[in-house]
Amino acid sequence: MIQYVSNKGGGAAVDFETAILDGFAVDGGLYVPTSLPKISLEQLKKWKQLGYIDLAFEILSLFIDRSVISEVELKALLRTAYAPFEKSSIIPLHQLKSKKETYIMELFYGPTISFKDVGLAFLVNLVDFFLKRKNEYKSLIVATTGDTGPATAFFTAGKSNLSAWVLYPKGLITEEQERQMTTLPHANVHPVGVSNCPDGGDDLDLVIAKLYANIPFKDKVHLSSVNSINWGRIMMQTVHYFYGYLQVVDFVGEEINMSVPSGAFGNLCAGGLARKMGLPITKFVVANNTNACLHRIFSEGLFSKQAIFETPSSAIDILIPYNFWRFLYFCVDQDAKKINDWSTEFMHKGKVQFDNETYSSYSQGFLSVSISDKRTLEMIHEMYTKENYLLDPHGAVAVAAADVLKDKLGDKKLICLATAHPAKFPQVIKEALQTRHIPEEGKHDSIEEAKTKCEKVYLCDHSYLEEALLNVMTTDWDLKHNNKA
Ligand SMILES: Cc1ncc(COP(=O)(O)O)c(C=O)c1O
Repeated sequence: MIQYVSNKGGGAAVDFETAILDGFAVDGGLYVPTSLPKISLEQLKKWKQLGYIDLAFEILSLFIDRSVISEVELKALLRTAYAPFEKSSIIPLHQLKSKKETYIMELFYGPTISFKDVGLAFLVNLVDFFLKRKNEYKSLIVATTGDTGPATAFFTAGKSNLSAWVLYPKGLITEEQERQMTTLPHANVHPVGVSNCPDGGDDLDLVIAKLYANIPFKDKVHLSSVNSINWGRIMMQTVHYFYGYLQVVDFVGEEINMSVPSGAFGNLCAGGLARKMGLPITKFVVANNTNACLHRIFSEGLFSKQAIFETPSSAIDILIPYNFWRFLYFCVDQDAKKINDWSTEFMHKGKVQFDNETYSSYSQGFLSVSISDKRTLEMIHEMYTKENYLLDPHGAVAVAAADVLKDKLGDKKLICLATAHPAKFPQVIKEALQTRHIPEEGKHDSIEEAKTKCEKVYLCDHSYLEEALLNVMTTDWDLKHNNKA
């Protein structure tokens, strides 16, 4: 039986279904499998010709017991999840002409046009599948810096066993991202625009952690989350690393590099775990914007929180990359006590300086850099003029980071992850291209359509958020379940 435990060591081991439905572990830690599967080159060779869905089936089968989900059920869940994607390849790879052996992994062909669709399409369907089977209901809560929210809202919309509470920092995401959440008419989707968040989306994560710690409330509304605290997100995101690798290599075993625009480290935690499973990646580039917590971790061994900067790549304006703790667990021989001690130290002091041994255990195979706003805009401009290819600001951070580090990366193939469609960031694109008109590649029908719809949203000040959510979520639960309102 494949089991899951908290990376902080509290509570008992649970099965896959419990880990997915709970979100956080009971001690507030993050669920991790008790061991990581190892994938040999022979196995990788057999997977070389597989399409994305078949490959996902193989990889997910390593983490999920057949007694929990049968082969037929898993295949059906995957097919349903990826049916609304625009491209049959799900995540195409685009080779650049002006940069040697460089590919853009286009992760934005899902319905809400960011890479969050890739993980959430499957995860929300999976949660719904488990709930229907048990005849149970859940209130999902997520915090978003602009992309998790739309994807959660989209995939939850209309599902009778789920409701979604989607918190976003008002004014710190684009209008386009906001409307992706607020224009859904479904009664089970509740966007909450939160004003006065001094630390942006991180403030919302803290409120969610408090709600989780409130056990009577958590039990009452059957609280869960599909933020990347949920193991299902990380597991699903390992797949695109394998897929991208197998698409670009000439032979299995060839070493390549990847550059990943990073915020909370959910995406790159999945990449790091994919490499621990056996994927031949020489270097991962941790691409930060000026909110450079991950850069400090990977260059100085320092996990520290600083004041937030608003940047053009707003979805990675994140101060605390909480999924780093999940990755670190696998770098320190799964020593949960160490993770618990460091997280506690961080909570009390606002920083942790790792010792040399720990630093080398996690930093091997990673390079990091913090990309300025100016360089991000220049890269969008450069790629558009040289390549006629329009990057979104996050993809631009990834390409710019790899550019800065090109001498250290050498001449291996490089995949840069483009995590969102530029249509979500029209003001940034206009500024970067110095134009008043967005080129066609920078538009998307879904974004244009959302402009014509009414918005439906709760608004709340950050200082009242916890209390307000306790009230409104309890009332909603009671109304829905025919108890007293
Ligand atoms: C467009 C985009 N790129 C990159 C990221 C960073 O991903 P992660 O937070 O998993 O590091 C996010 C999400 O926060 C995002 O929305």
